[in-house]
Amino acid sequence: MTTATIGGIGKFDGQEVTIQGWLYNLREAGKLLFPQFRDGTGVIQGVVVKKETPEVFETVKHLTQETSMRVTGKVRADARAPGGYEMQVTGVEVLQRIPPEDPYPITHKEHGPDFLLERRHLWIRTPRQNAILRIRHEVIRAVRDCLDGEGFILVDTPIFTPAACEGTTTLFECDYFDEGKAYLTQSGQLYNEATSAALGKTYCFGPTFRAEKSKTRRHLTEFWMVEPEMSYAGIDDVMDLCERFVSFIVGRVLERRAADLATLGRDLSKLQTVLTPFPRISYDDAVAILKRKGSAIEWGGDFGNADETLLGEEFDRPVMVHRYPAAIKAFYMQPDADRPELALGVDVLAPEGYGEIIGGGQRIHDYDLLMSRIKEHGLPPEAFAWYLDLRKYGSVPHAGFGMGIERVVSWICGLEHLREAIAFPRMLYRIYP
Ligand code: 4AD
Ligand code: MG
Repeated sequence: MTTATIGGIGKFDGQEVTIQGWLYNLREAGKLLFPQFRDGTGVIQGVVVKKETPEVFETVKHLTQETSMRVTGKVRADARAPGGYEMQVTGVEVLQRIPPEDPYPITHKEHGPDFLLERRHLWIRTPRQNAILRIRHEVIRAVRDCLDGEGFILVDTPIFTPAACEGTTTLFECDYFDEGKAYLTQSGQLYNEATSAALGKTYCFGPTFRAEKSKTRRHLTEFWMVEPEMSYAGIDDVMDLCERFVSFIVGRVLERRAADLATLGRDLSKLQTVLTPFPRISYDDAVAILKRKGSAIEWGGDFGNADETLLGEEFDRPVMVHRYPAAIKAFYMQPDADRPELALGVDVLAPEGYGEIIGGGQRIHDYDLLMSRIKEHGLPPEAFAWYLDLRKYGSVPHAGFGMGIERVVSWICGLEHLREAIAFPRMLYRIYP
């Protein structure tokens, strides 16, 4: 017997095949049973007719949700069926039947978020979570295809680091043998600056950590970030790459994951407009827009979540806000030559209230300036000696950015909270399962 996946069942219309999966749901209608099976690639409805297959009918009738089983049956196209196909079941082989006394905890009724998060290891089996995880996979594939296609070299950067990259308030600290304190990386950027001086254009892609005390729908303590870095580049090159990159990723998901977006009920018209060019506005202009829209922001302040939402609402695609006050940005940002109080940094804000998905910009390439910034920020110059070396030996203007995968997945999927954008979210009050 041919084994098929539910996602690829269309190739077997009219044939008898076996699928390997789990019972997702079961509806009874007199002498007919309508079991739904899932196998991770999709959900298919089966039909069991009592008078044709009485033994199968008796077995299936007593099966419980999430029972693991192999199901054999004849595939037939049916426009009314979800997924477009149905299976006329002729045989079942049960691997593990779940006893009714200790049933699968996640039923088809509504459950609260805490109940589901406590059972995240099971929750990921539902069609909605399957769709999100498949879209995440596609986003990651698109990230790699885009950067690889543009000639970037992937160089992995360390997770244990001796120094802070994005401020000292969100560092996770641990003891590192006789070497003293180590910190979980907040960003691979500083190492990317070394690898891009070695290889031209590089990126790192891995988990990053922030001891964020904020309990918002946009923050995780562990999240995945992709960070490209380019030698001989400035802030405009970063903005050019950002818009090519983000539109490529959204285009890929639209092209390859339409069925999953449909499962999520995502409004595609909100994604179809994500085309180059993206609007570019200065921080000054952004503050003016926010004031007009009633925000309490004053020049010099950082945008709150509400401000990012207000700005995002102005545009039908991501907006790039550049040239922030240096005082609210990281120590490594290159000052604007015309207005040194501004940093050549850029944030990309997604529409529909999703806020910042990318942060980046041009880095300081002058040794003395970088040294004085390290001291002003109260950072230990010894820990940055290697980083300062990059400004001693063939320093060039260079630039790059970091994009948070969960932020992008949330936005593309239209999620309420970042916690659904990763299989096992790590948050202020959650480290289980
Ligand atoms: O803006 P951030 O802090 O920038 C950096 O870390 C730079 N060193 C990157 C670089 O230039 N190479 O973080 C970059 C992105 C944010 O725009 C956001 O998408 C994501 O990382 N991010 C978070 N995602 C989830 N939870 C958090 N706590 C996040 N903090 C940042
Ligand atoms: Mg940022």
